[in-house]
Amino acid sequence: MGDTSPTGVTVRTERQDDDAAIDVVVASAFGQRDEADLVRALRSSTAWLPQLSLVAELDHRVVGHAAFTRAHVDGVPVLALAPVSVIPDAQHRGIGTALVEDGISRARADGESLIVVLGDPAYYGRFGFTAAAAMGVSGPFGPIVEFQCLPLADAFPTGTMRYPAAFRVDDPA
Ligand SMILES: CC(C)(COP(=O)(O)OP(=O)(O)OC[C@H]1O[C@@H](n2cnc3c(N)ncnc32)[C@H](O)[C@@H]1OP(=O)(O)O)[C@@H](O)C(=O)NCCC(=O)NCCS
Repeated sequence: MGDTSPTGVTVRTERQDDDAAIDVVVASAFGQRDEADLVRALRSSTAWLPQLSLVAELDHRVVGHAAFTRAHVDGVPVLALAPVSVIPDAQHRGIGTALVEDGISRARADGESLIVVLGDPAYYGRFGFTAAAAMGVSGPFGPIVEFQCLPLADAFPTGTMRYPAAFRVDDPA
């Protein structure tokens, strides 16, 4: 955690003055404002966990960001991973992997029991994420393979996942 990888990238917890740089990174990674606005909304909500808002620095420049925020499965606290962003000219160098792996390590050290993510199984599978439905976790999107989870403990909650309100996903629960 917080180490410098062989690629020269450092992953660390965000600082208060990182807001603007994170906003630029998220908007440039996705090529639109939606996810950057989501980060802003999450940051001003009770779901925001500053210690799990992680930035990747390369040559003292913020080039990546990952947010793990507070969600719930049947009322039990879990983590939602989203969004993960790496600026286009720094992609494919392992920075996204370093951010997600660092966050998983921190979450495990914090005693978290489950991380949920909506994303491509080809990407998140490398970290151990598997289809949430098969693990007994349902979400607002139905049983799609992109809805995945990573248990961090033998005992983890099952049931219905509720995203933080800032995600504005319909919740049939
Ligand atoms: C997804 C993202 C965070 C990955 O960051 P990265 O630093 O390029 O990732 P890494 O270098 O650790 O891993 C790259 C590998 O991930 C895979 N990958 C990258 N983006 C992917 C995607 N959207 N879906 C599936 N696989 C993807 C590639 O196969 C790549 O492997 P390769 O380098 O051998 O070709 C980055 O591409 C990004 O910001 N994309 C735009 C935003 C986005 O889609 N975020 C994810 C959803 S929240």
